[in-house]
Amino acid sequence: MAEQTVAVIGAGTMGNGIAHTFAQYGYPVTLVDVSTERLDKALHTIAANLDRQVAKGSIPETLKDATLARIRTVTTIQEGVRDADLVVEAATEDVTLKLQIFGSIDQAAPEHAILATNTSSISISRIAAATRRPGQVIGMHFMNPVPVMKLVEVINGYATQSTVTDTVVALSQRLEKVPCVVNDYPGFIANRILMPMINEAIFSLYEGVAGVEAIDTVMKLGMAHPMGPLQLADFIGLDVCLSILRVLHDGFGQPKYAPCPLLVNMVTAGRLGIKSGEGFYDYT
Ligand code: CAA
Repeated sequence: MAEQTVAVIGAGTMGNGIAHTFAQYGYPVTLVDVSTERLDKALHTIAANLDRQVAKGSIPETLKDATLARIRTVTTIQEGVRDADLVVEAATEDVTLKLQIFGSIDQAAPEHAILATNTSSISISRIAAATRRPGQVIGMHFMNPVPVMKLVEVINGYATQSTVTDTVVALSQRLEKVPCVVNDYPGFIANRILMPMINEAIFSLYEGVAGVEAIDTVMKLGMAHPMGPLQLADFIGLDVCLSILRVLHDGFGQPKYAPCPLLVNMVTAGRLGIKSGEGFYDYT
């Protein structure tokens, strides 16, 4: 589907990274967001990230211009998905909102279009049930920062057709990503394993076993993780970590997934990590 069109719903961090990546690999992209301010900011961010790639010598200047030229922005789903062959939804992680968005995408997208969601933890089967084409709904979970991270977690919903999975796998490979196919259970694989680790790091801090720097240094130098778990939690957003842990806790009903009270307190106090200027570290 190299000449085919991709619509990306949501111009936040993940949405702009996904739009950037598809456009960089030659796909015409329509980026959709209700806010023109967010769309402008997303184009700015994409240009800045492309500049960074040019400065590092990983892409030529001409590819920067070509990538930007392939991205158009619109403010309605109806207009954005009308000609799309693939829609990738990357809106806020809110079930009600996502179900509503998928209802609208389903109404407006061509019959053959594949509808993918970048959700980090909401059930694909549940999202698929909000459409008349559950067989064509699939999870396409990119990692932040999208232009850099190699993984795409491809999540089969209960009804996802195997031809749809095959198409999304091939497409991820064309973006020079490595797709891993998994099934639709709480947290899928990435967050089922990552979030308990982050939660355990927060419990270690809460119980006074070690300080922030020590916990992160142990995991960075001891396990060769690029970021320590507390730094990574700040990067992901503490509110996002908490909401994923709640999905795991509700979905499996096991106490091992219960979020640490310190995480709950920090989110309640508005300390969400990088995006709020303060989390386990100070970004002001
Ligand atoms: N766009 C384009 N390029 C970017 C970029 C962006 N947003 N951010 C960084 N880069 C590039 C840099 O230009 C640089 O390129 P080269 O390798 O060509 O030199 C490279 O990425 C490394 O960047 P830096 O040198 O600036 O910084 P770094 O070496 O400290 O790496 C990092 C930064 C890639 C973010 C690294 O710290 C890292 O891998 N962190 C862990 C990230 C991670 O775990 N992400 C997953 C989070 S979980 C998630 O997303 C899903 C979920 O559901 C919660």
